[in-house]
Amino acid sequence: MSAAQKWDQRYRDITAPGAPSWVLTHNQHLLPEHGNALDLACGASGNGLSLAQQGLTTSVWDISAMALKLQLQWALEQKITLQTLQRDCEKLPPEPASFDVICVAHFLHRPSCANLSRALKPGGVLFYQTFCANKLADSGPSRDDHLLQESELLSLFSDLKIRFYREDDRCGDLDQGERNRAFLVAQKPQ
Ligand SMILES: C[S@@+](CC[C@H](N)C(=O)[O-])C[C@H]1O[C@@H](n2cnc3c(N)ncnc32)[C@H](O)[C@@H]1O
Repeated sequence: MSAAQKWDQRYRDITAPGAPSWVLTHNQHLLPEHGNALDLACGASGNGLSLAQQGLTTSVWDISAMALKLQLQWALEQKITLQTLQRDCEKLPPEPASFDVICVAHFLHRPSCANLSRALKPGGVLFYQTFCANKLADSGPSRDDHLLQESELLSLFSDLKIRFYREDDRCGDLDQGERNRAFLVAQKPQ
């Protein structure tokens, strides 16, 4: 079964969009007022809907046709305009200097990270969150190539200016905090 078919199956019974990602909701003030945004590997998340609601011209890309069908349906229901595109983002990353905002949540393909930096326009902002290898929860991916090493987002996007970074790891009271993921907001120099 192809990756697209696997994800199509996962999304078959989804009826409502997920909440926008933590990194977006906690850093909304870092979004530009205008411009175009991409939610890459959008799945069934509410990130694209949220970005469009903030006034950005928003595209959502995924390899799964089912995810995009859901996104379009929710956009229509909420009277929001979303451009959907079925695209293998590993083989076909976004073009250089094409977006003011790129959001990536729970998707990691290390060879594409340099292309994501390149795909930001000058001053453009990347919002990224995904799972860490040292996560506490059993949920989330188990393959090493889908899990971040310590501080890895910082090195993957070292060409960008860091505006926000959080990685709680195992520090302090483990009953509190964000223990499973790392969060980055980073801006391309002008
Ligand atoms: C764990 S889900 C995350 C979805 C969403 N970003 C979220 O945070 O809920 C991973 C998503 O990546 C998509 N995906 C996997 N490989 C892909 C590829 N090569 N190109 C584009 N999307 C891909 C899957 O279809 C799936 O929707």
